[in-house]
Amino acid sequence: MRTHQCGELRTEHIGQTVSLCGWVATRREHGEKLAFIDLRDHTGLTQCVVDNAVDVRAEYVVRITGIVNARPSENTNDKLPTGQIELQDCVVEILNSADPPPFPISERADTVAETTRLQYRYLDIRRERMQKNIRIRAAVNSAIRRSMEDQGFVEVETPMLVPSTPEGAREFIVPSRQQPGSFYALPQSPQLFKQLLMVAGIDRYYQIARCLRDEDLRADRQYEFMQLDAEISFGDQDDVHTAIGAAVMAAARAAGKETGDIITMTWHEAMNRFGIDKPDLRFGMELNELTDVFAATEFKAFAGAAAIKGINAAGKAEEYGRNKLDAMTDKAKKIGAKGLVWLKVGPDGTLESPVAKFLSDTEQAELKRRLDAAPGDLLLIVADEWSMACEVLGTLRNDLGRPPVHEGPYKFLWVVDFPLFVGVDEASGRPKPGHHPFTQPHPDDVHLLETEPLKVRSQAYDLVFNGWELGSGSIRIHQPELQARVFGLLGITPEEADRRFGFFLNPFKYGAPPHGGFGLGIDRLVAILAGEENIREVIAFPKTQSGMDPMTNAPTPVDAKQLDDLGIRVLPPKA
Ligand code: AMO
Ligand code: AMP
Repeated sequence: MRTHQCGELRTEHIGQTVSLCGWVATRREHGEKLAFIDLRDHTGLTQCVVDNAVDVRAEYVVRITGIVNARPSENTNDKLPTGQIELQDCVVEILNSADPPPFPISERADTVAETTRLQYRYLDIRRERMQKNIRIRAAVNSAIRRSMEDQGFVEVETPMLVPSTPEGAREFIVPSRQQPGSFYALPQSPQLFKQLLMVAGIDRYYQIARCLRDEDLRADRQYEFMQLDAEISFGDQDDVHTAIGAAVMAAARAAGKETGDIITMTWHEAMNRFGIDKPDLRFGMELNELTDVFAATEFKAFAGAAAIKGINAAGKAEEYGRNKLDAMTDKAKKIGAKGLVWLKVGPDGTLESPVAKFLSDTEQAELKRRLDAAPGDLLLIVADEWSMACEVLGTLRNDLGRPPVHEGPYKFLWVVDFPLFVGVDEASGRPKPGHHPFTQPHPDDVHLLETEPLKVRSQAYDLVFNGWELGSGSIRIHQPELQARVFGLLGITPEEADRRFGFFLNPFKYGAPPHGGFGLGIDRLVAILAGEENIREVIAFPKTQSGMDPMTNAPTPVDAKQLDDLGIRVLPPKA
């Protein structure tokens, strides 16, 4: 039906007779007899000069055939790629009429309410922003597939109706009609199946997999999301990182972004220097060690503290008045700090703070040296257990310095050597797994499993992008004895393990190769590459914050008959 697309024509096409198809973006009357129509498709706009008797309005679907002409010089538009030409002598065929849209398609997306955009998502996607994002997403997926295939990975599809898996989030469950009272779960990830594929000899597996988790939705979370899911046999962390790194770099290139090499940092270093396991490396403001500076201090809040750490919010002294400092102190306390010391560096270098009088001259001088303090700087100090001091300052550091997630320069980072356990469950007194319970401990730390479990590092790693967790993975336990030891520590009895994971663990008796892998959040990757703050903007049909789809109205009640067949009775909502 068309010879060109609406964003394609240039001066070199002048004189050609062409046909364009698209939607009427705008119509402007031009004198008595003529009208200008801007015809739009996803590639852009072309101005068409038509007889003003033609009855077309915004969003009509039309085919226009005409001759490409140079625009008169007073009518050219340098902002438009097609701004030097227009179509003359046009024949307009109306392919379909259209009701007036609920919002102008050309309007910038952020001026329309979110629910309206989602209710009319098919019109929202017609707009430039979503057209761009959806195409970036397709390019990223395609680049990832090509990269994985070039690296010898085999795509395998895993089921959507699965048993419960221990990934940590709440599951969506699906009732079975044939076995009333029994339920499938929707997969939180293909984790168990991909490990079984390793036992099955598919030594390099990948899938762009749909994952489902019933979590509270946020800017970086949806119920349904996509992972680049991969697993390899006979490889170590480096092999996983190389493969995933290549795919991510290919994805960034496909989105037209250049990134530096991916650097690697241990979890301990990330916590110690940035106070968080997903540090944003685009800005400094690192945590400094001050414990020794105050080793002999008279200041009660610091005396005898296990760890004292500080950051320098350079140049922020003036911006942070009393109210903001009080709010910051409250936030620190909410996280769990006993308090927060702030000091402002005055014009002559003196430290201004209610607590300055408690700090000796030597302490003050060394503090300023450690934090590289200059006039106008705001210094923040926390004394506590190491992990609390890190967490509090890491949070404040992000609040004070973090640019919007999509701003360059792009910084990818592998965080490795995560602890195998994160703290102790208060009720049971048992260690809590950091990743899933199939994560291989660090070989140098296995001997500490029973004696000092919280000191055991794991072979788990994350990929971090501009301070967002982009993905996680690990080398898995493939030895049944070691798996039993870890389950034992978690309080999972052999009977429970057999009941919950038997279908998964029994196969390991038949020759499980050493293996490990990774799951990478494609929605998050695409959002950052597309310059978006919310993954909703890169998903064609997402849910709202409250888990609704305003376009289809899902979720909805179902017929009594349907429930009856499933053996389900719905109780009234709890008061
Ligand atoms: P994990 O649970 O860390 O690991 O998930 C991996 C990545 O998936 C993305 N992600 C999400 N994206 C959008 N919305 C969500 N609700 C959501 N939840 C997770 C994140 C996250 O980093 N099976 C393991 C991987 C493995 O060990 O191989 C897993 O799923 O980007
Ligand atoms: P206090 O001795 O509790 O009156 O606290 C004096 C000042 O030190 C207050 O500004 C507190 O917020 C701060 N502070 C108290 N405990 C700590 C701590 N553990 N780390 C950092 N600052 C603290």
